[in-house]
Amino acid sequence: MDDRGVAVGSETGTVVKGKASDLGVYVSECLTVGPVDPCTIVIFGASGDLTARKLIPALYHLHLNDTLPDPVSIVGCARTPMGNEEFRERLRDAHMDGASVDLSRWDEFAANLYYHPVLYDSLQSFTDLAEYLRSLDKQRHTQGNRIFYLAIPPTLYQGTAEMIGQIGLAREAEDGNGWSRIVVEKPFGRDLPTAMELERTLHRSFHEHQIFRIDHYLAKETVQNILMFRFANTIFEPIWNRSYVSHVGIIASEKLGVEHRAGYYEQSGVLRDMFQNHMMQLLSLTAMEPPSLFEADRVRDEKIKVYRSFKPFDEANQHRDLILGQYGRGVADGIEVPAYREEAGVNPESLTPTFALMRIFVDNWRWRGVPFYLVSGKRLAQKVTRIVVQFKRVPHSMFRSVLGEDIRANRLTLGIYPQERITLTFQTKNPGARSCLRPVTMDFYYDQSVSGPILDAYEKVLLDCMQGDQMLFWRKDSVERCWSFLTPILSQCEACADREQRLHPYESGSWGPEEAQKWMRLILDEA
Ligand code: BG6
Repeated sequence: MDDRGVAVGSETGTVVKGKASDLGVYVSECLTVGPVDPCTIVIFGASGDLTARKLIPALYHLHLNDTLPDPVSIVGCARTPMGNEEFRERLRDAHMDGASVDLSRWDEFAANLYYHPVLYDSLQSFTDLAEYLRSLDKQRHTQGNRIFYLAIPPTLYQGTAEMIGQIGLAREAEDGNGWSRIVVEKPFGRDLPTAMELERTLHRSFHEHQIFRIDHYLAKETVQNILMFRFANTIFEPIWNRSYVSHVGIIASEKLGVEHRAGYYEQSGVLRDMFQNHMMQLLSLTAMEPPSLFEADRVRDEKIKVYRSFKPFDEANQHRDLILGQYGRGVADGIEVPAYREEAGVNPESLTPTFALMRIFVDNWRWRGVPFYLVSGKRLAQKVTRIVVQFKRVPHSMFRSVLGEDIRANRLTLGIYPQERITLTFQTKNPGARSCLRPVTMDFYYDQSVSGPILDAYEKVLLDCMQGDQMLFWRKDSVERCWSFLTPILSQCEACADREQRLHPYESGSWGPEEAQKWMRLILDEA
């Protein structure tokens, strides 16, 4: 229980002491860590999907919670010529498409929205933008603080970052500038050389403390909870190692197929799309050592130690540690769905993997010899995101003569989707005269008994960026370290003579290729 008298788990769920409204206050207090400076948020790619579907709804929701700084200006930039009013209307319409959105404070919010057209390859256009931003800043008293959000295709990242540098808006506390930050979405390159090239460009204009590389998995409440769970309790850490843990499974399976993103996905495949970022973050949070302080760089220092400890893949025997697959036709939610190669925009002979199961070893004192099974894929049976810590069996079964049965080992599951919950499986005696065991679970549901606002992933990252808190963002060294682990694997997969044979087909709606089932059972087996 914390000093506010809030929340401890019990086998029936969360026991809450105090009124629900106390919890609301608690959650609200958790929303902001410190004051948020007035600022201007410049969104490049303002006529695109990400702006309408994620960024503006997130900013509006922050406004509804009174969490946006005051004053704040949100400036949309894109090639399309339009005025402020048209921009506001477009976003309002896009918003109304959503489910039951509370638009009662939209007009108040929309008064902070501006639009300024920009040509990404024209220095003159960026020079005009700089002038516009400086005069808006004076008019709105936003103190020269700026966030540049790259909601644009990755091919435009470098050029845009360079232009911002050239017009002098990356410099901090100079020429009427306050702080200046740039937000970059994945993919951060497509292999080690391209990632390093992108980094060099970003660093020509920005310092590392100004660069915010987003991984939306890190902003998920339950993902953040992994560190709290591990390091705010004493009882789990002593057994969180090779002496007690048999293996760890990390799964992010999806029911959806490639949707309308074939152009991007054909170039990336599951390893670049999910492993280089989200899966690596889940792994490091599970495997890292406790930092001495819950502070961005200390946490990120510990993460990179995990990446540095990865045992390199044995190139000659890669197939032992990596199973790749591609979905064929099948049924999803009762509807017949096409094979990946039949999807619009996909090469009918595509060799892009849509499924991967990878076994990684973290070669350090804590984890030596413990396999980490990472699996992700599209068009699988269910959407599940979960970390499974499978403990070892009891060293000696004193019950074997009575029970004559296998005693299942303990298992701890950190559920991220569909249910945000923590489940511990253990053995108890079945009630009754006979001695027999039954595995039971103790569940904690993350959102149980919580009232008050909960931040969605984009709200959280935007707010952190406004506060300059880089805890939930990738750092340059980790990006490069993960690419240096994955690049040889990708090169080998993409260049090997038996590439087609190594890509195992699986039926849509199944749990992946036959070849992966032995390992899938280790991860999915609920008991
Ligand atoms: C994205 C990937 O980063 O994550 C998508 O590009 C994937 O292909 C998505 O579908 C999964 O995110 P979530 O939050 O739905 O698990």
